[in-house]
Amino acid sequence: MAKQRIRRGVTRRTALASSAASLALAPLSITSFAKSAHERAEGTDSDSIDSLAALAAQKGLAFGASFAVHELDRPYGEQYADVYRRDVQLITSELCLKIPILRPDAHVLDFAPADRFFSFASENGLGVHGHTLIWDDYLPDWIKQLSGVEVDHLLNAHILTVLERYNGKAETWDVVNEPIAPWDKNPGNLRQGPFYAHLGEDYIGKAFHLAREFDPKAKLLLNEAQTESADENGATFRKSLLDLIKRQLDKGVPIDGIGLQCHLQSERPYDFPRFAAFVREIIDLGLDVQITELDVNDSAYPGSTTERDTRVANLYAQFLKEVLALPEVSALVLWQLSDRTSWMADPGLKNGLRKDKKPSRPLPYDRAFEKKPAWYAIADALRAMPARRPVRKT
Ligand code: G3I
Repeated sequence: MAKQRIRRGVTRRTALASSAASLALAPLSITSFAKSAHERAEGTDSDSIDSLAALAAQKGLAFGASFAVHELDRPYGEQYADVYRRDVQLITSELCLKIPILRPDAHVLDFAPADRFFSFASENGLGVHGHTLIWDDYLPDWIKQLSGVEVDHLLNAHILTVLERYNGKAETWDVVNEPIAPWDKNPGNLRQGPFYAHLGEDYIGKAFHLAREFDPKAKLLLNEAQTESADENGATFRKSLLDLIKRQLDKGVPIDGIGLQCHLQSERPYDFPRFAAFVREIIDLGLDVQITELDVNDSAYPGSTTERDTRVANLYAQFLKEVLALPEVSALVLWQLSDRTSWMADPGLKNGLRKDKKPSRPLPYDRAFEKKPAWYAIADALRAMPARRPVRKT
């Protein structure tokens, strides 16, 4: 059944390629978005550049942030769009390409938010990082009831459907998100979810092979969290991820790079030179490394807004100094740009993350879309970093 679906899909894919007009969205090349940020920076002294994307582009780094289309409908929607137009050259889909949004139930495919997301990117000359094809978490209940054969079919059909519709429109994809979850106590510390439960570790290789087949030009990433901290949790994630990568590469799985999320937390200990050494180990395997979800949870920072903002900015500065010193790190993506739209401001978090109930301040713009010290810390790090150079394939 699954095979039949794929064969049909290849035929549909070929038809689609020859008829770009069948899609409402214009294709976007990597050079087109990189150039626009470069143009903003060209011939300008970096001290007077007022765009993080333009500063990054001067050194060949792709700079972006996650973006949620529903924020455009809020009273602050135009300010929201403006900070993206000014400061990024690529956007990551924070919600609209996730399975629960695309497939709220077994018989519904809802592409409306994702189409709108790709249109925003295209209209504003921005690149796209697709997040995420397969994540064994945050899945709708109907998927948890499926049999092994049905889960296998879903994996095939989902990757085919999404990559057909948005073929060539995302430069990079998180093919598999957060496969590590030590608390699930599986071999290799792999996350327990319907894909792992029915397909074992092979779900990862299958997903990458399908993604390569259906969007051969896209850069394919495996995206992981919690590898940064200098505690036991960080060490476990780093080792589990490295072991997983090596097993997959040994099997010929077409992984192009690793996304390291880097949701930094004020209460965790860090040793950023140690983390940079871990990033170097991944690069030495011939893989691209991208920082994919950077923000700073300030819940353990006490004091006034000024003190908290200073500490958040300092953590950004210390982290970026070490990580961007590695010229092979090719992209830096924040998880949103404004405190107003951070996942840490989600009303679903009821009383917020902080004991004092004050709103979190994790990002370079405040809730009124004004720049904070973190913006300047990031800008300084981009000015100071060396020019990028591609990873040498092993
Ligand atoms: O759709 C409802 C909306 O109607 C309601 O008003 C709102 C009230 O809280 O909740 C809305 O949905 C929530 C949605 O975020 C939008 O805020 C979902 O319940 C909630 O589960 C969803 O959370 C997202 C989460 O991933 C799960 O998909 C976060 O926004 C998003 O930032 C977060 O992103 C993850 C990355 O994908 C992977 N790495 C960690 C990162 C942060 O947790």
